[in-house]
Amino acid sequence: MTAPAARHVVAVGSGKGGVGKSTVTLNLALALRRRAWNVGLLDADLYGPDIPLMLNLKREQVAKRWDFWRRGDVRLEPLEREGLQVMSVGFLLAERQSLTFAAPLLGAALRQLVEQVDWRALDVLLIDLPPGTADLQQQLLGVVSLTGAVVVVGPQDVAHLDARKFLDFLRAADVPILGGVENMAGLLCPHCGERIDVFPPAAPDRAIWADGVPLLGRIPLDPELGRHQDEFDRVGEELAGRLEAA
Ligand SMILES: Nc1ncnc2c1ncn2[C@@H]1O[C@H](COP(=O)(O)OP(=O)(O)O)[C@@H](O)[C@H]1O
Ligand SMILES: [Mg+2]
Repeated sequence: MTAPAARHVVAVGSGKGGVGKSTVTLNLALALRRRAWNVGLLDADLYGPDIPLMLNLKREQVAKRWDFWRRGDVRLEPLEREGLQVMSVGFLLAERQSLTFAAPLLGAALRQLVEQVDWRALDVLLIDLPPGTADLQQQLLGVVSLTGAVVVVGPQDVAHLDARKFLDFLRAADVPILGGVENMAGLLCPHCGERIDVFPPAAPDRAIWADGVPLLGRIPLDPELGRHQDEFDRVGEELAGRLEAA
């Protein structure tokens, strides 16, 4: 691609690690699937690919991994789970092997994951990014043409501060900002149902919402995230509306 097979390509990123990008990307993919969209999920966190574990997809399922990186003519099928078409660098590494590509090669690796994979017709390809705005994010821009990006933030000051750097990167590259998801937005007390703010919330003027970023939804902190399908459905609905309008 150039993503000829995808109507929309959406990158999900943040300034920080650990704010829940992969969790949100996966649940958003599932929410869009529930809307009967054809959804691809590309785990582009080349150094910390977590999607295979989150979907319980075994690495060994891709047998041709050595040839794939060495040769341009080896093609792979995306793996299927929960109706999603999934590709991850994690499928192309041995257990416990880390990726040692030098920074200038990241773009070429991303291109392979996009172009040497037989994605079937997609309404949207969601790309789970590693944190930050450096080599991989920069080089992705040369590999796919993004419909836009979604930013994931935690509720606290530092998450918003770092997310602003991601927003600056998007604006400098003319990538439309489709909206933000606040993740870990309070803990619901299992006893009384009251919301507890675990992190001191960002000052309103420091939050990215003050910068005109549309809020797509808030997801609470909950070890049983499966209970919050409705929240993810709302985020999916918001995002789908923005994509249709894009
Ligand atoms: N809303 C949430 N409630 C509870 N745990 C969460 C939530 N969001 C993320 N997590 C957990 O936090 C950790 C980091 O999330 P992850 O999606 O891997 O972040 P990132 O991709 O930004 O590094 C994971 O263990 C994940 O299961
Ligand atoms: Mg991640």
